[in-house]
Amino acid sequence: MNTPTENEINKLVTAVQTSRKYRDLELPEDLLRDLISVNVPNSKNLAELKTNFRKALHNVIALYLENIDYGEEILSLKANPLSFNEPENLRAYCLRMMAKHASTKERIPHLEVFFETVFENVGMPASILDLACALDPLCLPWMQLAPTATFKAYDINGPRVRYLQAFFTQAYPTYQAIQQDILLNPPSEQADCAFFFKEAHRLEKRQPGATRILLETLKVQTIVLSLPAMDLKGHHSLEDYHYHLVDKTLEGTLWHQEMRRVGNELLFFIRKEQTR
Ligand SMILES: C[S@@+](CC[C@H](N)C(=O)[O-])C[C@H]1O[C@@H](n2cnc3c(N)ncnc32)[C@H](O)[C@@H]1O
Repeated sequence: MNTPTENEINKLVTAVQTSRKYRDLELPEDLLRDLISVNVPNSKNLAELKTNFRKALHNVIALYLENIDYGEEILSLKANPLSFNEPENLRAYCLRMMAKHASTKERIPHLEVFFETVFENVGMPASILDLACALDPLCLPWMQLAPTATFKAYDINGPRVRYLQAFFTQAYPTYQAIQQDILLNPPSEQADCAFFFKEAHRLEKRQPGATRILLETLKVQTIVLSLPAMDLKGHHSLEDYHYHLVDKTLEGTLWHQEMRRVGNELLFFIRKEQTR
């Protein structure tokens, strides 16, 4: 098709921003424009571009939407403040919230071993970037970071990020939740470690090769990337496919990788320093 006009692009963007399905998510406009532009070459006309754009958007955002009313949760947090003085209450709260999101729910039975395995491998980081975090930050009580540690969590879902910020304000006042597309705007700060849990396979669907670009751009030497070993229904093994994804991402580099499995997660420890 011919390059769409600015007017046509604006209409596609506005239709999403005002749609019942997406309007509450306040998605970054640069994400919507990017998904339109990458779908121009494989669309014959404007109608097909609209279909391909909506399909791509669905894959990026909609598969992991849950029924959490983040506005309500923020109000409830304000009414019932969390406290570090009561670690058991904090853990109970986090478990209840994590159970509402498919991705963190399946990590619940393995939380202790999961973070023991992570920190055994990477040491205790003083600064962490959690990329495409969803509800990962609710695992913080199991991370037991040093009181001086910094933690920044990134996601594109506006209400989810506002909720995480409300959670941080109560339980981890120095931590930050940021609404940002980590592919279009990779975090520019240095950190000891980045977590990139259970999202690389979907980022690759959005743009093949995107994980390599992201890892190269990050000013972080150590990345803990996880991928599911089985599909969410537990019917199919994804192991070979995901080993291949990581091998392909590291192809031609001298980066080092090690793999451990915890529960349904394949944990890849990637070090960008040239050790081979
Ligand atoms: C599979 S879920 C959760 C992954 C989470 N790290 C975990 O292990 O539970 C994917 C999350 O990534 C977010 N996301 C997807 N693409 C993103 C991007 N380009 N930048 C930032 N967040 C993104 C989605 O909004 C969603 O919250």
